[in-house]
Amino acid sequence: SKPASVGPLVGAVVQGTNSTRFLVFNSKTAELLCHHQVELTQEFPKEGWVEQDAKEILQSVYECIERTCEKLTEMNIDISNIKAIGVSNQRETTVVWDKFTGDPLYNAMVWLDLRTQSTVEVLSRKIPGNSNFVKSKTGLPLSTYFSAVKLRWMLDNLRTVQRAVEEGRALFGTIDSWLIWSMTGGINGGVHCTDVTNASRTMLFNIHSLEWDKELCDFFEIPMNILPNVCSSSEIYGLLKAGTLEGVPISGCLGDQSAALVGQMCFQEGQAKNTYGTGCFLLCNTGHKRVFSEHGLLTTVAYKLGKNKPACYALEGSVAIAGAVICWLRDNFEIISKSDEIETLAKEVGTSYGCYFVPAFSGLYAPYWEPSARGIICGLTQFTNKCHIAFAALEAVCFQTREILDAMNRDCGIPLSHLQVDGEMTNSKILMQLQADILHIPVVKSVMPETTALGVAMAAGAAEEIEVWSLDLDDLSATLTERYEPQIQATESEIRYSTWKKAVMKSMGWVT
Ligand code: G3P
Repeated sequence: SKPASVGPLVGAVVQGTNSTRFLVFNSKTAELLCHHQVELTQEFPKEGWVEQDAKEILQSVYECIERTCEKLTEMNIDISNIKAIGVSNQRETTVVWDKFTGDPLYNAMVWLDLRTQSTVEVLSRKIPGNSNFVKSKTGLPLSTYFSAVKLRWMLDNLRTVQRAVEEGRALFGTIDSWLIWSMTGGINGGVHCTDVTNASRTMLFNIHSLEWDKELCDFFEIPMNILPNVCSSSEIYGLLKAGTLEGVPISGCLGDQSAALVGQMCFQEGQAKNTYGTGCFLLCNTGHKRVFSEHGLLTTVAYKLGKNKPACYALEGSVAIAGAVICWLRDNFEIISKSDEIETLAKEVGTSYGCYFVPAFSGLYAPYWEPSARGIICGLTQFTNKCHIAFAALEAVCFQTREILDAMNRDCGIPLSHLQVDGEMTNSKILMQLQADILHIPVVKSVMPETTALGVAMAAGAAEEIEVWSLDLDDLSATLTERYEPQIQATESEIRYSTWKKAVMKSMGWVT
């Protein structure tokens, strides 16, 4: 039969640390029609190293697009209705590839990778007189987290990368750049670009001028000719050159946390969201102002929705390990076989019985920025069992969020009255209730959980010359309906929180 006629559709690539997804939305109703997901491999070749195969990431994107298109066809929906696609991605993860062969020159070095700790130390000693040199330009503390130090490590340690740079064959990019270059033709005219949100996580980008910064590139000794062209988050970058969607424009690009901020409709100054993925990222929109934190938060570009639109900024609290602690309990400790079993174990006891778990697997990010920290489980007795450890793992996610919320409140002056949340872990009711208890403010979950995908679909659909999505679409915050109220006394959450802080102190200084 004839395919059903639907309004213009927009696709969203969501390339995360654990999986890749492609989702298709109706641009008139923001309704999610169909999606496909592919899990990804992470490699841990040495202690502290985290890598991914950039080609596997690219293939997973193609596979998700093709499978979603097949599903749409089975639903009798004409895929020629897809007018644009957007790309959102895990940020900071660093790829260098050969522009003549299209092959990556090394595995993608994942944002969580810690191998650059000594690179960071060497660089810190090199900082010119003004110790604020890097932070004042980038909004970021010098840390293993950001791309510039990863790229520096590759240049220092990999002959293949050095040679490709010398011979003018190397291109650098975060995952968005790698995907967009490959998908728009690769060696046959691929577009080498990134957007301001991803660029602002490289540590080479000046968040005031919104350009690559010559002084920073000199400081990190990074040749500027390998960097992608920086664009806004909503404009046509190029057309898909292969597959069922060949010819469809890619017109949205946002780091995943920025995409979630947009998807949660946090367009007003002071609006904030917390996304629970591999890590946990709390972003508060600060409008056109660049607010520099006094309490360990990052200043980052939130979005720039159009070539001629101004950039908006955010204060960000980044937690490295959230969902990853559940994966660790599943894969390394094997106390569960599926992630959602953590909820059953935790529910069985309803308390950690004095057990605290600081999952500082990649050091500690905000607000401490302490690379010497490592994970600890403390407060154990003969009574402690795997259920208590499961509970402590969930509680750790909540305590870490509390730490960044406290820092955010101190920096902003006006405490958040509630926390808007999204991400896969928010399906855990026990986690959400714990979060409300530990923050002692209500936690409000969007009923439309795919906020990252929605955000980048909106950016793609609203781009000039696409214009199938209007950004002042009715406020979806009305659909924030699942609400968790604190159910314990404030004094109890304070006691637990102060014990958590004691545990955090013990996790520091393990690596010298
Ligand atoms: O900064 C890293 C972040 O973008 C990764 O996001 O979704 O993989 O936890 P996620």
